[in-house]
Amino acid sequence: MTVDNIKKNAMKYTSAYPEIGTGKLGVEPIISPALFELERERLFKKVWLKVGRLEEVPNVGDYKVKKIDVAHTSIILIRGKDGGINAFHNICPHRGNKIISETGNETFGHARANVLSCRFHGWVFDTDGPVRSIPREEAFSSLDKKCLGLRSVHCDVWEGFIFINLDENPTQSLSEYLGGLGDHFSGYPYGDSTCSYRYSTVLNCNWKVALYAFTEGYHVSTIHAATFPSLATLQHTDFKLFGPHSTSTLYVPPAEGIVTTPATAAFGSVLQQSERHRPHLDQLPKGINPDRREDFQFEFPSVFPNFLLHLGAGAGYPGMTYFTHQFWPIAWNKTLWEGTNYFRPPTKPSERAAMAHVNALHRNAWLEDTGTMEDTHEALTSGVLKELVLMDEELMIRNTDYHWRRYIGV
Ligand code: FES
Ligand SMILES: [Fe+2]
Repeated sequence: MTVDNIKKNAMKYTSAYPEIGTGKLGVEPIISPALFELERERLFKKVWLKVGRLEEVPNVGDYKVKKIDVAHTSIILIRGKDGGINAFHNICPHRGNKIISETGNETFGHARANVLSCRFHGWVFDTDGPVRSIPREEAFSSLDKKCLGLRSVHCDVWEGFIFINLDENPTQSLSEYLGGLGDHFSGYPYGDSTCSYRYSTVLNCNWKVALYAFTEGYHVSTIHAATFPSLATLQHTDFKLFGPHSTSTLYVPPAEGIVTTPATAAFGSVLQQSERHRPHLDQLPKGINPDRREDFQFEFPSVFPNFLLHLGAGAGYPGMTYFTHQFWPIAWNKTLWEGTNYFRPPTKPSERAAMAHVNALHRNAWLEDTGTMEDTHEALTSGVLKELVLMDEELMIRNTDYHWRRYIGV
């Protein structure tokens, strides 16, 4: 093989997308507080952001409150009387109190009689938004009640994932925003996996440090060597870019001599042998693992800007149909990371125990992942490195950075 051929091969995915370039990645977007202020306005207040799942608010009146620090707001997602999802800023139009007091980054509850009340002065709002009653209304000199309802936020649902857009006039619908990526992932029965386990932590790093660490598979054979020795043969392939979004596929061909612990083998077989929990490769959308390879691990996309949806259909980790990551900026150097595993609900104690084991394995891997992030951030803030070099399979990072620059205008 000639040197030119080797170079061409080395960049086979990257060279398919010349528009995003092949250069190094500047460090400034990660370590600049000034650029973070632009991110608030030009990115997080402009794009569609995934904020929940329909199963989290199953009944009329159920609500979820999601804090969005980067936009200095929190959002009420509530199942309206027509069964649809309404989204409102969690702020009372009287004098600005929070309608629902938060108990953490996510708060869940139920609006009795389909109303929400502000505990400060007792204004009452319909769950569809309009103000319903105002104590001592006659004491206000003039009130245009039509303008005193809850402040709505654009909200739409794709495949059971609830998204919001904080822009008053979004330039794209959710469907337009997701584009080809939405089509690529559509049609899977996500709603069957009603059993979820969420892990989260606040990391002292820029949100892109965390995001980038989770959007490449290059680190797997080193960082996860002890937790997942079977991943040593990982193939990260089939990269596709859909505007700011991207996807790729992970396969793990079987290898000789892999030692699995007795617990992992036993719990894994409980789920593998269950018709309900075994891998259902036939349910994958057509464009994902089109050859239905049995060594399929999971589809691995980056949904711009801060959401990852890993679709495994039970093949990647026993019983786990999909898992998600999300990265919420709190400050330029502080990030809330959330990882959630989804399963079909267990039908017996042995399945529940097996799921707990799979969760623990995944948690261990995530501890290994998150363990690098604060170190990376601190080292980058030294300013010693001005640029980062990327290999071919770090293409999704390159695509995110390219589109990030377009939104921010730098
Ligand atoms: S601030 Fe809500 S009723 Fe006054
Ligand atoms: Fe990892």
